[in-house]
Amino acid sequence: MALSTAFTKMFGVEHPIALAPMGGSAGGALAAAVCRGGGLGLLGAGNGDREWLAREVPIVAQGTGKPWGIGFLTWAIDVGVVDRALEYNPRAVMLSFGDPSPFAERIRHAGATLIIQVTDLDEARAAVDLGADVIVAQGTESGGHGARRGRSTLPFVPVVVDLAAPVPVLAAGGIADGRGVAAALALGAAGALIGTRFQATAEALVDPSIAKAIVEGRGEDTERNRVLDIARGSRWPSTYTARTVGNRFLDQWRDREAELAADPEAQQAYQAGVARGDMPPLPVWAGEAIDLITDLPPAADLVGALAAQAESALARAGRQ
Ligand SMILES: Cc1cc2nc3c(=O)[nH]c(=O)nc-3n(C[C@H](O)[C@H](O)[C@H](O)COP(=O)(O)O)c2cc1C
Repeated sequence: MALSTAFTKMFGVEHPIALAPMGGSAGGALAAAVCRGGGLGLLGAGNGDREWLAREVPIVAQGTGKPWGIGFLTWAIDVGVVDRALEYNPRAVMLSFGDPSPFAERIRHAGATLIIQVTDLDEARAAVDLGADVIVAQGTESGGHGARRGRSTLPFVPVVVDLAAPVPVLAAGGIADGRGVAAALALGAAGALIGTRFQATAEALVDPSIAKAIVEGRGEDTERNRVLDIARGSRWPSTYTARTVGNRFLDQWRDREAELAADPEAQQAYQAGVARGDMPPLPVWAGEAIDLITDLPPAADLVGALAAQAESALARAGRQ
């Protein structure tokens, strides 16, 4: 029996699983594979780079007849970016990290489903007021960026579910197997939005060294800070930290962010290390659940396996 929720009904998808719009790595092939597997694929368009979208949208559009969407970093875009994206007729547009109010109305007006990712209750309230069709509640176990003052997934999701009802909520952060999907549903969420687990799939646009670090890494090897953003000269606002797998540079600069920001030579040393191949080309953005990731499956198979595991976990719960 399939898991039917407000989310699966809204999009007409088989499983309550969405691909997180991971900037750069959730490209057309990965999004299409997730859709073919029965989930909702979201392209990770980041700041809305024109050429990236022109390349990746046709891949997802031709790779699936099912609904797909595009996700943006709200702080990095303007209305022109959103208008250009809407010309591709995505079924959904997801906004994360920043003020969604300049964009919400034009997305809804264009007939796209508006998904807003939130990291605290004020953002959740604002998302409801803006008419979000789906809200993603992101906990600090998440891979990649999140609010410096975020909340853990387990206590955060049900509070957002209560606050947002009847708007469906997806749980995000630390979900990497079917038990996590089952937990999300048990918390009252209408599904799970999953990032890190999909980085380790055949279709993700990631360097092999990054996939390897995720497969080999453990949750306790991950940490949240701004060190690597500062070192690589990233434009991410300082209110956001990122969870990454640790490395030698982090060991050297942990808890010394202000010092690093004031030290251009240390930043250049990091960038030179990356250029030499001493470190992965990008930070290994990964969530706390990486212990559960041990392989690089095709994403469509993974979606089906996650859903099947979630069903059996729910059937088993309380019967041991
Ligand atoms: C490599 C990576 C890149 C990400 N990039 C984005 C992004 O560009 N936009 C966004 O909304 N979320 C981004 N996220 C966060 C996801 O939306 C989501 O909150 C997170 O992946 C959920 O936690 P999990 O990684 O434990 O599944 C990213 C996450 C990862 C792991």
